[in-house]
Amino acid sequence: MNYKKIVVAGGGVLGSQIAFQSAYCGYDVTIWLRSEDSKTRTQPKLDELKKNYIETIESMEPNDEENWARGIADIDSFNKEECLSKVDIAYNSIKLVVNLEEAMKDADLVIESMAEIKDEKIKFYQKLAPILDEKTVLVTNSSTLLPSMFAKYTGRPEKYLSLHFANTIWKKNTAEVMAHNGTDKKYFDEIMHFATSIRMLPLPVMKEKSGYLLNSMLVPFLLSAMDLLTNEVSDPESIDIAWTRGTGAPKGPFQIIDTVGLVTAKNIVEQYQKVPGLMSPLLKKMLLPYNYKGMLTMLNKYIDDGKLGKSTGEGFYKYK
Ligand SMILES: NC(=O)c1ccc[n+]([C@@H]2O[C@H](COP(=O)([O-])OP(=O)(O)OC[C@H]3O[C@@H](n4cnc5c(N)ncnc54)[C@H](O)[C@@H]3O)[C@@H](O)[C@H]2O)c1
Repeated sequence: MNYKKIVVAGGGVLGSQIAFQSAYCGYDVTIWLRSEDSKTRTQPKLDELKKNYIETIESMEPNDEENWARGIADIDSFNKEECLSKVDIAYNSIKLVVNLEEAMKDADLVIESMAEIKDEKIKFYQKLAPILDEKTVLVTNSSTLLPSMFAKYTGRPEKYLSLHFANTIWKKNTAEVMAHNGTDKKYFDEIMHFATSIRMLPLPVMKEKSGYLLNSMLVPFLLSAMDLLTNEVSDPESIDIAWTRGTGAPKGPFQIIDTVGLVTAKNIVEQYQKVPGLMSPLLKKMLLPYNYKGMLTMLNKYIDDGKLGKSTGEGFYKYK
C-alpha cells in the first residue's frame, strides 16, 4: 500500500473529522462537496476541529493515560510542538473541491461519508464509477447500511468495503473494517493498514454485520436498560449501579445515553424497531418483545422537556 491522495466525499460531522485526521497524519486530502454552499458549511467545521485538536494537545498529560488522545500521538513519544505543527499543516492543506472529476483525479482512496440515505449514496456511486482511476480503492463510513447494498454500483466491488469511524476520531480512535462477500482480501488488508497509518486501531469485521462490533453489543445493552425502566422494574440510578458495581464498568446505560444524547437514543430505538435485522438472529428472538413504544414515549417526554442529556445539563441525571 502506498496511498498518497485521499478524497473524502461529504464534509459533515464525520467527513470533516476523517479528512482532518488523515491530513494530520500526512496524507494529501481533498474533501469533495456537492455545491459551493456546502463549502460554507464545511469550512467552519474544519475551523472548529483545528481548535479541538489544539485544545486536546494542550491538555494531554503523559501521566494521565486514561484521557490520552491516542489519535494524536503515542504516550511515550509525545512531542507537543510537533503535534501542534502537524495540526497547522493539516488545517492549511485540506482542499475543498466541488467539481467531482477534479476532486477524484489520481485518488488512491475515496472515503464516502455522505448522509445516511441509501438512494443518495447509490446515485453518488453511479456518478463516481466511470470517473475513478482503476487503482482507486473505495470505502464507506456508513453506520447502518451494508457494503453489499452498494457494491454493484461502484464499478469495483473487489476494491469496495466499509471503514467505520467513531465520532471524535482523534480520541475515540477505533476503525471497524468490514468486507462484503466480493471484497478482495488484498484491499481489506490495505484498508486495515491505512487505518493504522492514520492512528486508528483497526478492528476486523470479517462478515457483514449491521451495527459492526460496538453497536452490535451496545444497542441491545441500552435497549435492555430502557426496557427495565419503561416496564417500571427499576429507576435509572439503580439500573446503572447494578451494572457499574456488578461489572466494574465506569458507566451505566443511562449515563451512556446522557453522554450520547437522548435524541440519538430515540433515533436508535426507531431504527432498531424498524430493522430488527440489525440484531443477530438470537438477539432478534430475545428482543422482539421489547417495549419499543414505551421507550419512545419515555424518550419523547424527556426530549420535549429539553432534557437531551449532558449537552443540555440534564437527561436522566442533572449536570452542573
Ligand atoms: N455522526 C456520527 O457519529 C457517525 C459515526 C460514524 C459513521 N457515521 C456515518 O458517516 C456518514 C456521514 O455522517 P455525518 O454524521 O457526517 O452526517 P452529516 O449530516 O453531518 O454530513 C453529511 C454530509 O453529506 C453531504 N451530503 C448529503 N447528501 C449528499 C448528496 N446527495 N451528495 C453529496 N453530498 C451529500 C452533506 O452536505 C454533508 O456534508 C453517514 O453514513 C453516517 O452513518 C456517522
